[in-house]
Amino acid sequence: MTLEISLEPLTRAAAAATPPLLDGRAVAAALRAQLAAAVERLAGRGHRPTLALVRVGDDEASEIYVRFKVRACRELGIRSIHRHFEADVDRDSFLDELDDIVAREDVDGVLVQLPLPPHLPEEEVIERIEPGKDVDGFHPLNLGRLMAGRARLEPCTPRGIMTLLRAADVLPLGRRAVVIGRSRIVGRPMAQMLMRADATVTVCHRHTRDLEAEVRRAEILVVATGVAGLVPGSWIREGAVVIDVGITRLEDGSLGGDVEFERARDRASRITPVPGGVGPMTVATLMENTVRAAATRAGFTPQEPLTIAP
Ligand code: GUN
Repeated sequence: MTLEISLEPLTRAAAAATPPLLDGRAVAAALRAQLAAAVERLAGRGHRPTLALVRVGDDEASEIYVRFKVRACRELGIRSIHRHFEADVDRDSFLDELDDIVAREDVDGVLVQLPLPPHLPEEEVIERIEPGKDVDGFHPLNLGRLMAGRARLEPCTPRGIMTLLRAADVLPLGRRAVVIGRSRIVGRPMAQMLMRADATVTVCHRHTRDLEAEVRRAEILVVATGVAGLVPGSWIREGAVVIDVGITRLEDGSLGGDVEFERARDRASRITPVPGGVGPMTVATLMENTVRAAATRAGFTPQEPLTIAP
């Protein structure tokens, strides 16, 4: 028995947007609707998926993100457990408690919201999470499996972007893809996934010498730097697919991405808005990973318990 997610409702949701807009909100809603059905099937077999969310300190963005994740769980019928630690929590007691959360039989997925205070090294914290419960896909085993081909749990933002590209019928095969940013959360796994989809991939970062020249060549451009307006719209290649991962609160109180949207929109064939593009896909993909982890633990097909069918 497998839990299968069909691509067709996602494609329909993507096609309903007026080009060049690539509507992550609509595609994420279509994905969530199918996940809700999968959750009920699992719950019907006595296994309600459960996600533990761990947050340390009072980083405002982290608090907002975790709130979104708790809400998404509630809407899908996924049980969530939220554990908040003070910023100055003692390292050993934090790790002990994290170990206890990871070991809980009723917990399918564990997410430690990043960034962490400096006395809690991310590497060490991530490695405490059992790979099968690592719904962020950040554990070295999952990242290694991603490099080797396909991991069971893959980082949510790039995986969500790949789902969005498939929903919009964007085929990376043979395309020149440029990824700006080389973080563990987005840039590096994004490059791997685009390579796996047969794109020719260039990864740019703060030391890239001529960013404009790289961007001008990009047929698929993924920007994940958190630097508002880093890419002027005039750099966008005519007909390019533009994925903007950045989200920054601007001085006038509005939210902006890493790409200058208004001018880029005139040149791109598809472009994700900010907000309403990548963000909703990230959260929906976290839910997908949680259902995947739960399905595996409940004894559904272990390799690929939840497939987004071609
Ligand atoms: N901080 C910013 N993005 C993420 C994410 O995807 N997962 C976690 N755990 N922390 C983050």
